[in-house]
Amino acid sequence: MAKVLIAYASMSGNTEDIADLINKTLTSLQHDVDIKEIDQIDAEDMLSYDGILLGAYTWGDGELPYETEDFYEEIADVDLTNKKVGAFGSGDTEYPLFCEAVPIFEKALVKSGAELVVEGLKIEFSPETDEDIQRCTDFATAFSKKLG
Ligand SMILES: Cc1cc2nc3c(=O)[nH]c(=O)nc-3n(C[C@H](O)[C@H](O)[C@H](O)COP(=O)(O)O)c2cc1C
Repeated sequence: MAKVLIAYASMSGNTEDIADLINKTLTSLQHDVDIKEIDQIDAEDMLSYDGILLGAYTWGDGELPYETEDFYEEIADVDLTNKKVGAFGSGDTEYPLFCEAVPIFEKALVKSGAELVVEGLKIEFSPETDEDIQRCTDFATAFSKKLG
């Protein structure tokens, strides 16, 4: 089965909860998953995987969190051709740019040649309702199908 990297940034644990749910689903579908905090890895590390899912909460005025900035800048320096990718994150709909970290990551990944195979997953705060938990599971299942 495919080698998958889930890399995320989470300050108060909400994005981490999403990452954990995605990890559970992908692992139960027999994928070989590594789950890491983004500030502990380099963008080059993505090259060891078939599939990559990046997650972050949104900060400031629709911005990426500070601790993802180095990784984000490095994405431009790696060739992600043939990599299947997606993005997820937690946010708060009170802000005008809800979960903007998700499209910011998606654009950077695609610009480096990756194939975006799932629609970005945006969750308000932590995935606590049955509906939000299901959305996380569905996101991971859809990603798994694209990995083949
Ligand atoms: C100063 C500040 C700025 C924020 N800006 C945004 C924003 O622009 N868009 C958004 O969707 N959420 C925004 N949020 C909300 C967080 O993304 C949200 O609380 C998220 O669930 C935190 O995820 P975490 O638990 O993974 O850290 C902001 C929160 C704070 C405290």
